[in-house]
Amino acid sequence: MSKMNGHSAPSIQEIIEKKRDGECLDKDEIDTWVEKVVDGEVANVQLGAWLMAVYLKGLSPEETSYLTRAMVDHGETLTWPAHWPANLIVDKHSTGGVGDKVSLPLAPALAACGLKVPMISGRGLGMTGGTLDKLESIPGFRVQMSKDEITEILDKVGCCIVGQTAKICPADKIMYQARDVTGTVGCQGLITSSIISKKVAEGISCLVLDVKWGLGSYNGTCENAEVLAKSLSEVANSLGVKTKAVISHMNHPLGLAVGNSLEVIESIQCLQGGGPADLRELVCLEGAILLQEAGLVKSRQEGVEMLAGTLDNGTALQKFADMLKFQGVSKETVSKLLSRDCNNNSSVLPTAKHLSNLVSEKSGYVDFIDAGLIARLACNLGAGRSNPEDKLDHSVGVLLTKSPGDYIEIGEVWAQVHHNTPYTPSQQILKCLSVVDSKDLVGPRIAKVIE
Ligand code: URA
Repeated sequence: MSKMNGHSAPSIQEIIEKKRDGECLDKDEIDTWVEKVVDGEVANVQLGAWLMAVYLKGLSPEETSYLTRAMVDHGETLTWPAHWPANLIVDKHSTGGVGDKVSLPLAPALAACGLKVPMISGRGLGMTGGTLDKLESIPGFRVQMSKDEITEILDKVGCCIVGQTAKICPADKIMYQARDVTGTVGCQGLITSSIISKKVAEGISCLVLDVKWGLGSYNGTCENAEVLAKSLSEVANSLGVKTKAVISHMNHPLGLAVGNSLEVIESIQCLQGGGPADLRELVCLEGAILLQEAGLVKSRQEGVEMLAGTLDNGTALQKFADMLKFQGVSKETVSKLLSRDCNNNSSVLPTAKHLSNLVSEKSGYVDFIDAGLIARLACNLGAGRSNPEDKLDHSVGVLLTKSPGDYIEIGEVWAQVHHNTPYTPSQQILKCLSVVDSKDLVGPRIAKVIE
């Protein structure tokens, strides 16, 4: 043990050995570990060894909470003017999925209800683009904003969707990169601290999580999603952020559009009171949970109605327009993009040169369309990344024409592939449409809310 301020500070090696032996690390040991990671005192081999020890031995809920707190404290946090009611500052996080564009309509809809949403979002890896990638389909959209700019946009508009700065949770950045190359990404304690630290650093009071399970997500089963949701909620609540989690499936893509520009168009349809029913349902439920937690409505149903009202009466769309302008998009682009004429809005977004139809080999009711295979197809077309450095093609993707429960005839089109490179459908893709004889088998998108 080395001496620090009269106390014995554990050495890096001692911390690694303790975790290797399956013991629980205390608050000071975890804080020291994170401090040394951020200060560059932990060698890469030591970081890899610690991550593997954590992966194999796990982190208790207390250790996960200490790790999350330390990751927040050893970095910059967002703070808000004292006159802003703290309960009104909220955010959401989704574990990600295929066609998951909920953040785009949700943030402005919440702002239209009077909440403030400082949404720090990410880019996608391994599937289709993340929220920032989708928004970057819009010419001029700027994801990097200073703390002062974020405060100004929250004051004037009520929401923003921005990228993480290097100074927020720097330990997460370092550890995430190391996890990626040491086979230690899929560890519940590490996933929880990584996700929740960035949300706590936003200075929010309430958080809603959308934890996915199914073919197009990294939680294979609903039970796994629930376990992760409980871990995320418990840690966030232990750090003072009131948190609830929605469990929803990702067997079928969310909505009909998969691919960056295509998803922006579908988000705008939702903000205009239309768009696919499953997208609107998730936006309204997640928004209602936050409105209730923030104390603006008494019941979830009242929250759903308030949220739906902002989608139907144009106030959420106006907030989206204001957010885009603040984040660098020209007035002309915004007015074309939000026009109800679809030729106009697609004229400002990148569009693919070629469209190819996928047709059904069978008649019956659509059960689901394998979200994992659609994600792989969209990613191969250029809508997602295999490596962090890959450049995206914002114009490409897949537009489904059928939702679960719809009837389809043999030979009828179920999807349009938007592509810029030569494309021939594989047998696997043709088989990803699951058609059943009875409509009764089609299950709901949302499994439950973890209160
Ligand atoms: N998203 C994150 O930010 N971190 C993880 O570990 C997993 C998903």
